[in-house]
Amino acid sequence: MLGALGLFLLAQAVPYGRAHANPPVTRALKFDTATTQELFTGACGDCHSNLTKWPWYTNVAPVSWLVARDVEDGRARFNVSQWDQPQPDIQRVLKQISSGEMPDWKYKPLHPSAQLSTAQTQALMNGLARSYAKDPPASLRSRSAERAAADRRAKSGPAS
Ligand code: HEC
Repeated sequence: MLGALGLFLLAQAVPYGRAHANPPVTRALKFDTATTQELFTGACGDCHSNLTKWPWYTNVAPVSWLVARDVEDGRARFNVSQWDQPQPDIQRVLKQISSGEMPDWKYKPLHPSAQLSTAQTQALMNGLARSYAKDPPASLRSRSAERAAADRRAKSGPAS
């Protein structure tokens, strides 16, 4: 009989989630200040840039699968390392933050840098708005293109 330990060990053999690829930075957003960049890196950068840090537990299934999926999905929607490619407009970025949806709740317990105070949240939002104004993305992504991309990902599944 396969116990919990057996299942756990078997899960480690699944290749998905262990590659931890950090694709090249094709064009980095020029943040308005170092402070904005620091706030963003600490609270958002692991999922919305190509400079992801991968701690040891991201090698252990099933955490590795969930993290890889989040990073793929996060980068596909908003990526400050690919500013030469379509990005969401600033209103959507600010709304994700002000609504409390981002940073992702799963991320916060293990990342104190993502536990932003009210003042830090405000500073990040103001800083991102100024960064977008000074260095707008090459183009904005349309919602229909995004839905099509999400559908493709849902169909291909995590093993793709
Ligand atoms: C643990 C990974 C993770 C972190 C940290 C994170 N995000 Fe996300 N983000 C995601 C994922 C996954 C999605 C896509 C699914 C969803 O919307 O929940 C997403 C979606 C988004 C979107 C796209 C919404 C749209 O309309 O397509 C924006 C903008 C965004 N995040 C901004 C941020 C900002 C700003 C921060 C930091 C304050 C942040 N995220 C932190 C994973 C993350």
